[in-house]
Amino acid sequence: MRLTLRFIVPLVVALTIIAYAVVPLVDRLTLRWFARDMDMRSTLIANAIHDSIQDSLVSGSKTRTLTVFNKILQDERLYALGFCSASGGAPIATWTFPSEIGCADLDRFEDPSRELLQSDKGPLHVAVVGIDADGSRIGNLVLVHDMSFVQRRSEETKRYVLYLFIGLGAVISLITVVIAQLSWRGWMKGVRALLRGEGLFRPAAADHPLPMPELHPIAGDLRALIRDMEAEYRARDESQITWSPDALRAILRNDLRGDDILVVSNREPYMHVRRDGRIEVSRPASGLVTALEPVMRACSGTWIAHGSGSADREVVDAHDRVAVPPGKPAYSIRRVWLTHEEEAGYYFGFANEGLWPLCHIAHVRPTFRSGDRERYMEVNRKFADAVVEEAKTSDPIVLVQDYHFALLPRMIRDRLPEATIITFWHIPWPNPEAFGICPWRKELLDGLLGSSILGFHTRFHCNNFLDTVDRTLEARVDRETLEVTYGGKSTAVKRYPISIEWPPAEELTRKPVSECRADVRKRNHLPPDHFVGIGVDRLDYTKGIVERFLAVERLLEMEPRWIGSFSFLQIAAPSRSAIEEYREFEARVRMLAGRINDRFANGGAPPILLKVEHHEPPDVYEHYRAADVCCVSSLHDGMNLVAKEYLASRDDDRGVLVLSQFTGASRELPEALIVNPYDIDQCAAALHMALTMPVTEQRDRMRIMRGIISEFNVYRWAGRMLLDAAGMRKRVKLQDDRGAG
Ligand code: G6P
Repeated sequence: MRLTLRFIVPLVVALTIIAYAVVPLVDRLTLRWFARDMDMRSTLIANAIHDSIQDSLVSGSKTRTLTVFNKILQDERLYALGFCSASGGAPIATWTFPSEIGCADLDRFEDPSRELLQSDKGPLHVAVVGIDADGSRIGNLVLVHDMSFVQRRSEETKRYVLYLFIGLGAVISLITVVIAQLSWRGWMKGVRALLRGEGLFRPAAADHPLPMPELHPIAGDLRALIRDMEAEYRARDESQITWSPDALRAILRNDLRGDDILVVSNREPYMHVRRDGRIEVSRPASGLVTALEPVMRACSGTWIAHGSGSADREVVDAHDRVAVPPGKPAYSIRRVWLTHEEEAGYYFGFANEGLWPLCHIAHVRPTFRSGDRERYMEVNRKFADAVVEEAKTSDPIVLVQDYHFALLPRMIRDRLPEATIITFWHIPWPNPEAFGICPWRKELLDGLLGSSILGFHTRFHCNNFLDTVDRTLEARVDRETLEVTYGGKSTAVKRYPISIEWPPAEELTRKPVSECRADVRKRNHLPPDHFVGIGVDRLDYTKGIVERFLAVERLLEMEPRWIGSFSFLQIAAPSRSAIEEYREFEARVRMLAGRINDRFANGGAPPILLKVEHHEPPDVYEHYRAADVCCVSSLHDGMNLVAKEYLASRDDDRGVLVLSQFTGASRELPEALIVNPYDIDQCAAALHMALTMPVTEQRDRMRIMRGIISEFNVYRWAGRMLLDAAGMRKRVKLQDDRGAG
């Protein structure tokens, strides 16, 4: 329709202009033709009456002459007749003879290109024909024709010419628009098909004929152009947005028109636990929860998770929902209950004994059991049921989290085909050889490729995933667009480096640094000026806690001045302790801490303070603020949010971060002291450097890193995913509209 209007309006305007230019031209031409006709007619009449008037003129009989003249005047066109004698004097003329014509200036009527004579009777044509007698000119016959009929005809001609142009315009428009529509549709259909990769790589289906072959060469260019425009659009948007809860809400409102948001994760953000007969709320130690909780507070929606707290069932409503955060509800948790067997097989078994070590290079063998895989599948299905139950529309936005749900995206896709499914893999993705160990690799990849978008923290993990798909499935992997087309559907593989809430919640940094320093030292029986290092992790073999303790031991060996003046305080949240590997790991850590303390404590401050217990976020932040150095020495980690939390806690710009090169965070934070955790000497040297770093250098490094996190906070992480989801939904809608149109 728009195309039609865009084309027709200028055409009509152009034709009208042409018509207005042409009509006067036609008018002038017809007038000239008529004038010429009148000249010929006048000569004819003069010749016809020549003989009959010659006599009366020669004889000087004015009456006879007038009789002849009046007889001839019955011709309806001839308006007046007159004779001007060569000897001069007044003309012998009919009474109609115009007074504007004088015998003295007849010459002006002899020019063939003369104008008509405009009289009060209307336009008149005047012709002058000489009358001879006996070989000499006796005078001129003046024939005056009424030309008002020409004016009438000219009006008619103008009207017809105008109609002709209008008709012509309509016909041309119609033909052009029909042709344009037909070929535009054909082109658009072809271009869309090519952009989807159809016809180039796959045979066309019967109901989708092959797109026009002439479009093939431009398909790649078009795709590149669209990608560039999208990247530019995104870069522009991102740089213009101040990433905050309000920014997320604005995206939801404006770009997603308040669409339904569902988050699915294994771990819930709030656990209700019964302690000493009372129900308490606890925040689990999980990077995933740290990142997503502020996002959900901003977005509302529903978070579907395993209800694992001992009092969880006591606080939910009839639909297993509970509003959180307690006292300030902003969204709901929908709890999914698992039997002991389900939890053992799906969570401890397949997810944490199989996929967790498979994806982390931490030299712990993955264990895959078919029974665990069965439970994993059943539980994924259970969560798919919950998603379908919680979805308010047929096309919700579902944010699937982590390796507990590799099969879930496909299950949701099968039941809610229009849903926008964004899956985020919070842990590393290994190379194809390592992933190939998994006996069910194909079904896991198939499950993940049910997603619309699949996100990882780093480009490296995106590439590992694409390599794995390439090796394992019959799928098309486009490395330029980072897209996988599998079973006719595309999944975009994207990098979204996760982050934390910025600025951190006010209650986390309310206590002044000096008080935090004093209180933490006092509680641990350390002198007020004692140097303190901090580590905050789940008690997990991927976190490099053993290597960290060995580095502390090495530091004391290399720099004995730190014996008795430096302690490393390790908060180790108990984790997955039903798994033997984790129990053994805890024993190793405890033993190592004991050995190092035995060696260096000498009755004074122990070099290692190991707290195997869960700490709520305000306690953790108090420790961060009390420490001189924070050590993150993961052997392999998707991102590691402890590093970012430590920086966020230091609004005094003091403290040093020692960071493993094997964390995703190290890519964003080069101003940290980057170490290889397996290189114990290097880590010890980094600890020494941190403890002796001048305050100005601490401040400079801190400011840069805090600046990065403030800009790339978790709202940006979520916002980018939601913007991509919005873009995808708009594109799908446009395609549907075009298809229907
Ligand atoms: C990692 C995983 C999360 C998980 C967290 C805590 O960060 O990526 O999905 O929640 O560890 O582990 P847990 O097994 O206690 O949930």
